[in-house]
Amino acid sequence: MPNGRSSFVVVANRLPVDRIEMPDGSTAWRRSPGGLVTALAPVMQSHHGAWIGWTGSPDEKVDPFDNDGMHLVPVMLTAEDVQLYYEGFSNATLWPLYHDVIVAPEFHREWWESYVAVNRRFAEAAADAADDNADVWVHDYQLQLVPAMLRRLRPDVRIGFFLHIPFPPTELFAQMPWRRQILDGLMGADLVGFQRPGAASNFARLARNRMGLRTRGDRIHLPDDRIVRAKAFPISIDVNELENLARQPETTARAAEMRQEVGNPTHILLGVDRLDYTKGIRQRLRAFGELLDEKRISVDDAVFIQVATPSRERVEQYRVLRDEIELLVGRINGEHGRIGTPAINYLHTSYSRTEMAALFRAADVAVVTPLRDGMNLVAKEYVSTRYDDTGALVLSEFAGAADEFRQAFLVNPHDINGMKDTIVDAMNTDDRQLGRRMKAMRKHLAAHDVNVWAQNFLKALHDED
Ligand code: ADP
Ligand code: F6P
Repeated sequence: MPNGRSSFVVVANRLPVDRIEMPDGSTAWRRSPGGLVTALAPVMQSHHGAWIGWTGSPDEKVDPFDNDGMHLVPVMLTAEDVQLYYEGFSNATLWPLYHDVIVAPEFHREWWESYVAVNRRFAEAAADAADDNADVWVHDYQLQLVPAMLRRLRPDVRIGFFLHIPFPPTELFAQMPWRRQILDGLMGADLVGFQRPGAASNFARLARNRMGLRTRGDRIHLPDDRIVRAKAFPISIDVNELENLARQPETTARAAEMRQEVGNPTHILLGVDRLDYTKGIRQRLRAFGELLDEKRISVDDAVFIQVATPSRERVEQYRVLRDEIELLVGRINGEHGRIGTPAINYLHTSYSRTEMAALFRAADVAVVTPLRDGMNLVAKEYVSTRYDDTGALVLSEFAGAADEFRQAFLVNPHDINGMKDTIVDAMNTDDRQLGRRMKAMRKHLAAHDVNVWAQNFLKALHDED
């Protein structure tokens, strides 16, 4: 990029790294949490584009820099922006509304105003960074107004938008006081990508019923003769990344050490999530606790490791959830744990990729039970590490991943009794049967890597037919 501008620009709320304070007072960059970063970082490393996003701390002005093979362009958010745009409109309005109103979304006009202002800032940063006729790929619910804003600033660029989370049924979307502005914002893109076909249909239905637009197949016809395409592109992971780590002898040794550390049970059950009310952590721990209460399992048979990354900690509903989970874990451990062997090892922290690979290798059963999830990459990561076709995946039918992993032990996380039976079934299924299921899931995953996802999206962005 001789003129300092890029022919490929990614725009996302967060950069792939967060600035952290080291104990000696210096600062360093650490990979930021969540599925968006997991999926996009390898794509960016191979495309040599620019990534526009926030550093994760308020009031921090940082010049563009290179990190881990990526060119990063920070956008500043003030403490007030973080409160109104990020914690408020993004994570207390849009997030719950788009996840089936598991908790009630809040609608506040000053949050909306901040959302508009911050989206404009991202659109301007993208307009500055993009070379003539560049491809600009905007990501996720925090930036739904950017496509139209960017199109006004830079009609020459091609604009793709991908929503990493579910897109709600039209009846729920209709609650949004600013529904028309959000639809107009998204219609600025040439291609709008979703995780599941149902989400693309919800969007097309809104285009017809709320905007009076004509749709045909995946095409939405705008009055100015422009066409917006809306289609599903199920996201994935860099399949080799964790598998390579999982195959290291040190990982095997670390996994064996973990098993000893948790009391050498017959089965290790594992949950790995951001601490979020969409993930069904409470439901799965209740199911596990009831299995212990009913003596269908004991801590000699099964120990649960629940890793819960701190997330959005200043948003009220996340604080409430943390208290509830910690109360529940305390109760179950108090009733069923033994000295040195708690029933649930609860870890409110973030781990390195090597440690994650060892956790996945140690786990006999991965329990992935979101109440609603766009995709859920943890399910795919677990499968990627089971190179010997061992292990069982218990998976919610409300995660996008359930469309692809039909051989998982599928559950409805609202049905605690059903979940209990399925967990016991997963623990008791014989190795040959488990091997057949895992092999089929691994075959699917190998053919649907994140690079295939990115290629499909970027190819569709240029499709004229
Ligand atoms: P979301 O995007 O909602 O956070 P996903 O399951 O799609 O959910 O992606 C979560 C990503 O964050 C995965 O790559 C997962 O490995 C990572 N992750 C989750 N919890 C932790 C943790 N405690 N430590 C390190 N990485 C984590
Ligand atoms: O797609 C889910 C997502 O919200 C991403 O947009 C985000 O990067 C990730 O989860 C983590 O959330 P946050 O950036 O709010 O910590």
